[in-house]
Amino acid sequence: MTPEQLHPPAERPSPAGPRPPSELSSELPFADGSADRSSKLTALIRAEIEASPERRITFARFMERALYEPALGYYSQATDRPTDAGDFLTAPETHAIFGWTIARRFESMWAELGCPRPFGLIEYGAGSGTLALSILEGLRRHGSTELLQAIRYEPIESNPNRMHDLRDGFEKAGLAGLLATTGSPSNRPVPVTGIILANEFLDALPVHRIVVRGGKLLELFVAWRDGFVEVTAEPSTPDLARRLADDGIVPGELAEGQVAEICLGLAPWLDDVAGRLARGFVISIDYGYPAAELYGPRHRAGTLLGYRRHRVQDDPFAEIGLTDLTAHVDFTAVQILGERRGLRSVALTTQADFLVETGLESELQALQASPETTAEDYLRARSGIVRMLDPRHMGRFRVLTLAR
Ligand SMILES: C[S@@+](CC[C@H](N)C(=O)[O-])C[C@H]1O[C@@H](n2cnc3c(N)ncnc32)[C@H](O)[C@@H]1O
Repeated sequence: MTPEQLHPPAERPSPAGPRPPSELSSELPFADGSADRSSKLTALIRAEIEASPERRITFARFMERALYEPALGYYSQATDRPTDAGDFLTAPETHAIFGWTIARRFESMWAELGCPRPFGLIEYGAGSGTLALSILEGLRRHGSTELLQAIRYEPIESNPNRMHDLRDGFEKAGLAGLLATTGSPSNRPVPVTGIILANEFLDALPVHRIVVRGGKLLELFVAWRDGFVEVTAEPSTPDLARRLADDGIVPGELAEGQVAEICLGLAPWLDDVAGRLARGFVISIDYGYPAAELYGPRHRAGTLLGYRRHRVQDDPFAEIGLTDLTAHVDFTAVQILGERRGLRSVALTTQADFLVETGLESELQALQASPETTAEDYLRARSGIVRMLDPRHMGRFRVLTLAR
């Protein structure tokens, strides 16, 4: 089965295309107090800008507060956002067949490692546990009872509301016994033998924004002039130019006026990953490209986007705290930084190829063959697959596997 064989529809994250923020705002009722939360967050960020010596902050700092400010940031909300009723849909939320297929990869990795017990599964950005539960369900469907019993699952999730949902979901599924710890990032984790997983996690890490002006690398900062605006100045840190050099992007390769994002949070994340994994694999699935493509001619305006109620929001300053902000992942940087920490790069492929190679088709056939499957169940799975494989959307996500 290939993405083409499934004839995916022309699905886009934003079916109607981007619309001006003013148009979007005027139709939102804000009956839930979200406008109030957004203005409080705006006031906090504005105060930080006005208190700073140069009256500006980096975009990374702005994004950090917009996404993670306690009680006000996008990822502090009580409601679950990667849902049909939320702002965007991730692959595991589209259909459980995504997790069932990943369970097959887990089975082969466990065998390759000599079937260790216990077998750690650490998931960054676990959300409400949808992906983990579908992977465990996949193991059960495949009769991989020994592996299922060996798994110790440790979710790493910054939103306490999601952790609460996750624990509830595990209780309801009768799998609470597999939960390893509280899930809070710990200073001294005990390294595990197992798999570290991150689905649509890295694209949420704050990014710096750079621009080329007069052949020079400059940085885009956030200032306040009756609203948030971008201002250009010398880079806040030499790490930005250093990252591009490490990626093999030579001076002069970026076009005049080109804007790009750089995530300096990748290095601390890989420090944390390397500290948690004694032996095993890291699987990271996300929007992203190798550096040559990410910083190439197709992305001259960068890849920063907002998502709000399944629509693309071009303006990163609109509806702050209510809009998901994301930038594509630089997978070359993840590979290089991983190698420096003893994590060997094994494969970088598209999500479509990864799922097809791992046995998505067999999962669909097994579902079809089951006497319990209704026509509706089958069609739901099939339409989920179309979305996961669509080469213009989720199918072009990258899957990076590292090993130690
Ligand atoms: C886009 S959602 C993806 C959720 C899930 N992995 C999925 O695929 O459906 C990103 C999740 O990562 C969490 N998150 C973002 N940054 C985080 C961080 N620095 N540490 C832990 N969790 C984080 C968010 O709260 C959110 O639940």
